[in-house]
Amino acid sequence: MKSRNALENDFLMQIVPYPHPALAFKSVDITQIDATLRKTIRQMFELMYEAKGIGLAANQVGLPFRFFIVNLQARPGLPDEELTFLNPVILRKRGSELGEEGCLSLPGLYGDVRRAETLVVEAFDLDGQAFQMELEELEARVIQHEHDHLDGIMFTDRMRDEGTSAKLDLEIPKFIAAYQQAQRAGHLPTDDNLQLDLQNMARSGKVPEEFLVRAPFKIELPPITKE
Ligand code: CO
Repeated sequence: MKSRNALENDFLMQIVPYPHPALAFKSVDITQIDATLRKTIRQMFELMYEAKGIGLAANQVGLPFRFFIVNLQARPGLPDEELTFLNPVILRKRGSELGEEGCLSLPGLYGDVRRAETLVVEAFDLDGQAFQMELEELEARVIQHEHDHLDGIMFTDRMRDEGTSAKLDLEIPKFIAAYQQAQRAGHLPTDDNLQLDLQNMARSGKVPEEFLVRAPFKIELPPITKE
């Protein structure tokens, strides 16, 4: 396995921490499948494996576009397990089930969220081919979690729907404080500038080439209180 330092030599993309404005952005359809998008998605898989995640939405790397990636095995070397969903639409949700979720944008925080048990998802793959999948259990949960990101919805917003906000009231302010601290220290642009950047990218409908060579930001994430 590659160390973080080795990875940083290969690319600069990072998972943006809560409350980065990209995470609240209502994303727009991607309009072009090009080399930059392919490279972006490859790097997102590598980032996701490094963080031991099973899904990652474009918002989570600071992109305002409707796509996400999933690999339930959470490890590289299994190309058949790597799924890319461009401009996904969820159809025919059925059932309801409470289950625990976490998110790479709020590392260390977990909580119960109610989701449909089964669904059908329609999307395009990287060859521009439309496909449809009928999913259940964990797969259906991951798709709903990632699809929410595209609408600017965090799993913690859904936790609040279940009335489990005490833990959030304790932990969320720590993430906000760490984020604001990084902004004050100049490690991260202001929210106004980030928002402007998101709007410009959204208007263009495609990942700009320069996105892949941006400097990484620095942010110290807070420790999570153990239960
Ligand atoms: Co997430």
